[in-house]
Amino acid sequence: MGNIIKINIKNKNLIIGNFNIIEDDVIIGKNVTICNYVYLAKGTVIGDNCFIDSYVKSSGNNKIGDGCTLRYNVTIAKKCCIGRNVYLSPNVMTIYTEPDGSVLGDISIGNNCFIGTNCVIGSGVTICDGVTVGAMTYVNKDIKEKGTYVGIPARRLEK
Ligand SMILES: CC(C)(COP(=O)(O)OP(=O)(O)OC[C@H]1O[C@@H](n2cnc3c(N)ncnc32)[C@H](O)[C@@H]1OP(=O)(O)O)[C@@H](O)C(=O)NCCC(=O)NCCS
Repeated sequence: MGNIIKINIKNKNLIIGNFNIIEDDVIIGKNVTICNYVYLAKGTVIGDNCFIDSYVKSSGNNKIGDGCTLRYNVTIAKKCCIGRNVYLSPNVMTIYTEPDGSVLGDISIGNNCFIGTNCVIGSGVTICDGVTVGAMTYVNKDIKEKGTYVGIPARRLEK
């Protein structure tokens, strides 16, 4: 399957690789790189100056702010909203449904956050601005204070 691209790329300085699927109603800002095998579902909005690595998947109705980096194999749950200058490391997974099928709400990640490799962000979780989440952390509750959080479930790392 080849590319399905229906976006207006005029004057946008986009770099788009191969085998990407970009559905209808996807909005992509300026100076964006989209690598290979990326899937952007309907209603995904990507800001300016973003880097979308290979195998990233957005499930739809997502907003990704300016200056974000989504590394290899990041999965963005439906309606997840990501602020500006956020770095999502490889294999970060955001969760939409709970085991009983319920949806606890939409995930929101604030500005200037760093989420480490293999992290899982639970359904409905809100992470405030300026948070660092260590590798392999499971965030199952809102993070309301700037700082570094690690572990399963996530706990604040005291300094
Ligand atoms: C969270 C992190 C930023 C903390 O780094 P740091 O401030 O240098 O922390 P330290 O290595 O001094 O560790 C401090 C404590 O936190 C613990 N810790 C650190 N990272 C942890 C993690 N990911 N999960 C669980 N515990 C962790 C350490 O074991 C240590 O515990 P102790 O005080 O009981 O010995 C770093 O460990 C991390 O996870 N970075 C993510 C890297 C990443 O994913 N990069 C992707 C790039 S593509």
